[in-house]
Amino acid sequence: MSAPQSAIMNIMLRTAAKAARSLVRDFNEVENLQVSTKGPGDFVSAADKRAEEIIFSELKKARPDYSFLMEESGIVEGKNTEYRWLIDPLDGTTNFLHGLPHWAISIALEHKGEVIAGLIHDPVKDEIFHAEKGNGAFMRRRRLRVSGRQDLMLATIATGAPRRSAESRAQFMKEYSAIIAVSPGLRRFGAAALDLAYVAAGRYEGFWERNLKPWDVAAGLIIVKEAGGFISDLDNPSHNPVETGNVLAANDRLFEPMSKILKAA
Ligand code: IPD
Ligand code: CA
Ligand code: CA
Repeated sequence: MSAPQSAIMNIMLRTAAKAARSLVRDFNEVENLQVSTKGPGDFVSAADKRAEEIIFSELKKARPDYSFLMEESGIVEGKNTEYRWLIDPLDGTTNFLHGLPHWAISIALEHKGEVIAGLIHDPVKDEIFHAEKGNGAFMRRRRLRVSGRQDLMLATIATGAPRRSAESRAQFMKEYSAIIAVSPGLRRFGAAALDLAYVAAGRYEGFWERNLKPWDVAAGLIIVKEAGGFISDLDNPSHNPVETGNVLAANDRLFEPMSKILKAA
């Protein structure tokens, strides 16, 4: 089955491709800057902002009335507040900064607070994951499905570690210990949007992380759901993980077991 290319998805694909060209050019420069004592920090934040400006201006041109929530520029309210773009121009900044080829652009569209379309573009690996509500998830034209593995011992599970408070690090260590005790194949790759895309693609069986932002989660949420996976808030299934930032995503078989282990940690 091939991907239904709606007008909105075409806009998202085109926009991400344009921002990707700019980011790839900048990524090729980053390597040269590693040797300087200052490092590539300022250069990367400029690259990040440049990519966001491209995304903002392309989406604004295509849908002038829609609202925005962007990592760098924050909220830009449009005439139409029912539709809102959620944008992370560069997810995996630390990887990008270190010349590690694992980062992505993440764009989602919400309607009345519900994510209806999502796209995650990894230009280095030339992989694009996307989904629209009710239409399935795709990697370009190939249908995505979560994995069928049921055995946590054989699973690969991804996570991300908090940088902030000692308290959140302590909580993370408890959860990490609880999961690794039953599932030794843990991964920590540093780009939450790609972690979610990989759950959808059946590469990981599960992913959990706390303290994420709406732009880290929104696109991945619909891609996981449309690939047949489960995704929810880590603590309370009636909360929206896009808002709380505390996320558990997994294939349909391992979602409950993972949820139990994490809650008991
Ligand atoms: C970060 C990445 C990372 C996650 C952090 C995010 P950024 O986003 O997704 O994997 O652990 O919590 O903030 O800063 O690279 O866009
Ligand atoms: Ca991010
Ligand atoms: Ca970012």
